[in-house]
Amino acid sequence: MSNLPAAPQGRILAIDDDPGLLQNFALCLEDAGYRVNTATRLQEGMKLAASQPFHVCLLDRDIAGDSGLDALPRLRELAPGLRVIMVTAHSHVEDAVRAIAEGAADYLVKPCSPAQLRIAVARQLDTLDLLSRLETLERQQPRQASTLQSNSPAMSEVLAVARQVARTDANVLLLGESGTGKGVLANAIHGWSPRASRPLATVNCPSLSAELLESELFGHAKGSFTGATQSTQGRASHADGGTLFLDEVGDFPLALQPKLLRFVQDKEYERIGEPDTRRADVRIISATNRDLEAMVRDNSFRLDLLYRLNVISLVLPPLRDRREDLAALANGFVRRYANSYHLPARHLSEQALLRMQAYAWPGNVRELQNVIERAVILCTGEQIGPEHLALGGEPAPAGAGSGVGVGAPVSLETLERAHIEAVMAHAETLEAAARTLGIDGSTLYRKRKAYGL
Ligand SMILES: Nc1ncnc2c1ncn2[C@@H]1O[C@H](COP(=O)(O)OP(=O)(O)OP(=O)(O)O)[C@@H](O)[C@H]1O
Ligand SMILES: [Mg+2]
Repeated sequence: MSNLPAAPQGRILAIDDDPGLLQNFALCLEDAGYRVNTATRLQEGMKLAASQPFHVCLLDRDIAGDSGLDALPRLRELAPGLRVIMVTAHSHVEDAVRAIAEGAADYLVKPCSPAQLRIAVARQLDTLDLLSRLETLERQQPRQASTLQSNSPAMSEVLAVARQVARTDANVLLLGESGTGKGVLANAIHGWSPRASRPLATVNCPSLSAELLESELFGHAKGSFTGATQSTQGRASHADGGTLFLDEVGDFPLALQPKLLRFVQDKEYERIGEPDTRRADVRIISATNRDLEAMVRDNSFRLDLLYRLNVISLVLPPLRDRREDLAALANGFVRRYANSYHLPARHLSEQALLRMQAYAWPGNVRELQNVIERAVILCTGEQIGPEHLALGGEPAPAGAGSGVGVGAPVSLETLERAHIEAVMAHAETLEAAARTLGIDGSTLYRKRKAYGL
């Protein structure tokens, strides 16, 4: 289904051993604007179904000694998205029920009128159209949930290049620390690209063994290895016409890299356990937080593969380098979690925001999201304060506290409190903190008491 043009320019395959009937079917459907291929032998039909994309197959019950009914499971394996309409003689209508149970989409009883034939085919194409719209809507949902906007110069620049690159088919490599939003940006690039109406298929490289990863990517034939009870089409085929996202590509097994390289170069691959070479038209986005160049140096990543994946690379800035976005991101998460936990609206206090501005966010946006989720749940009033934030105890980087809070629309007192807190988090002793702050120990003691630090 995924490598087909949208209905109604439907492609129909008719398999029947009666050439006269096939000719009638073809004339009738071609008149309606469809493209029709015919086969008078089952094997010939199966070969066509495996090698070319079709929307609908009209499958006769008996084809010159072969049973169309028995071939149904294999046909559905070869072409998983294909809608099969079983064609039976009147005397075998009971077989139609079995055909539906085996996965046929509908059945027709011979002889059928041209109108019956067209209606049956049109109905399947409508269903395919609905399925593909549903798929598109489902895919768009997470993208809408996180609109990528930024007030930070570092991030804005990355987004501007990403939008520009999205219009092309160039492969993109997304780099950056864990939790900076590489997955979110991969989704956005697909959404901004001309391929947006086609699927985005993600392969999570580290979660699978080399064998399972190969199967996940390229699919396998039934019985090709222990546990392969069904044939699968693989993410590459699923992404046909769209985008393939290789997440955590730094963990892609070295032994499998030559096959990936060939696919990235030529867009050709084989399913495990099948000799036929297949093609998929995909744009490849990959992401990693690992240093691929260092991996090339110690021979755990292929240089030629890196070149192919890295036509354009974008480095996502860590959250501590885009603090201009912190408040908007945090407020967005507050709204999201209050909503999803059906809690009344909450907002972040100035002190909470200052505390967050002074923090280093080693886990980046993901950590911010987790911290806010927890705070929303723990907070009983409508205001989230610093006491609701569990900030990993890591000290803020040098200068962050003073550089960030300054100029923020907050009172001097709030700023002072956050600054004292950040300096204390750095300092080995209270005396050292007082020295840094330029005040004596007893003043610091009073201020700590006043601010509840
Ligand atoms: N701009 C954003 N708006 C809203 N949520 C975001 C944004 N950026 C990231 N997130 C959220 O932060 C979390 C981490 O993002 P994502 O998974 O894309 O990061 P990553 O860089 O791929 O991390 P890793 O390297 O660990 O896979 C996700 O839950 C994501 O929804
Ligand atoms: Mg990720």
